[in-house]
Amino acid sequence: MARILSLSGDWPAARDAALAVLHAARPIALPTETVYGLAADATSAEAVTAIYETKGRPRFNPLICHMSDLAMAERYAVFDPLSRRLAERFWPGPLTLVLPLKDGSGIHPLATAGLDTVGVRVPAGAAARLIAAFDRPLAAPSANTSGGVSPTSAGHVDADLGPRIDLILDGGPSPVGVESTIVKAEPDGRLRLLRPGGVAAEDIEAELASVLIRPEAAGAIIEAPGMLASHYAPNAHIRLNARRVEPGEALLSFGGQGIDGAEKALIALNLSLEGDVRQAAANLFAYMKQADASGARTIAVMPIPDRGLGEAINDRLLRAAAPRQA
Ligand code: TXA
Ligand code: MG
Repeated sequence: MARILSLSGDWPAARDAALAVLHAARPIALPTETVYGLAADATSAEAVTAIYETKGRPRFNPLICHMSDLAMAERYAVFDPLSRRLAERFWPGPLTLVLPLKDGSGIHPLATAGLDTVGVRVPAGAAARLIAAFDRPLAAPSANTSGGVSPTSAGHVDADLGPRIDLILDGGPSPVGVESTIVKAEPDGRLRLLRPGGVAAEDIEAELASVLIRPEAAGAIIEAPGMLASHYAPNAHIRLNARRVEPGEALLSFGGQGIDGAEKALIALNLSLEGDVRQAAANLFAYMKQADASGARTIAVMPIPDRGLGEAINDRLLRAAAPRQA
């Protein structure tokens, strides 16, 4: 069973406990501003293998390498001017940049699934302090069984992976609530949005004063598994853009206006009464899990606007609603 250490207590003790597990080439669960990550030494084959095994994740799906700051990221990845500008503007924060891997970087090919690029991100808070103390990048996917809903609390991690890991650092609920936005620098210098996430694409485009290449425009190349069907899937079926609720369904509502049949819902949760997409993102995964735990066979979700973090929310909901592989 995992030991759970709160980060609101003794930081040096929590840090040292985490470093001991990391130095033993085993993964820990740690909070980031987006979701909890299952983190291990990105330079160690044994450590990275343990991540894939603990999650049951396909090994062709590369991991994001987390850095303490931009200076550390520059030791492992080659930055073009636009990517550096985004790093300076949005790090620490929910942005991942896919960049050419530096020769002899030391990042193990298992972490990048053998690609010559690497996804790098600088998380906020305790995660960055821990990486600085470890002085090696931490490969970290979300700390959940592959294909499931990402965890936004230590309790979510414990309920899923607790029996399979040594240590969970508890930093409270993840404030952003959806995973990082992934942007890839193409060889021609243009930037492509691989996954909408915690930094609104509009904010990136405003910083660049140009538009990102979207998956649609590129002929839907499947490069980030966020783009695979049936990701983030709860047990219940998800019914999107619901305009009424059927008896026995769970309801995820959004905004102050009611919806027909709400009184017959098995459980009704409002992602944001004020209609705030940021608040809805922060609540999304916890509410999906709660709705799922109600035992309802279907979760009806009211329409959510596509602006700001709404794009990431709708992306995750679409994947949760997609047909399952098995
Ligand atoms: O917010 C987040 O990004 C969280 C926290 C823990 O940092 N992590 C996360 O990791 O969401 P994961 O493994 O669930 O998603 C990583 C995504 C995958 O879709 C993967 O394909 C993509 O990043 N990725 C990583 N390296 C890549 C690369 N070199 N090229 C293209 N995509 C890459
Ligand atoms: Mg994930």
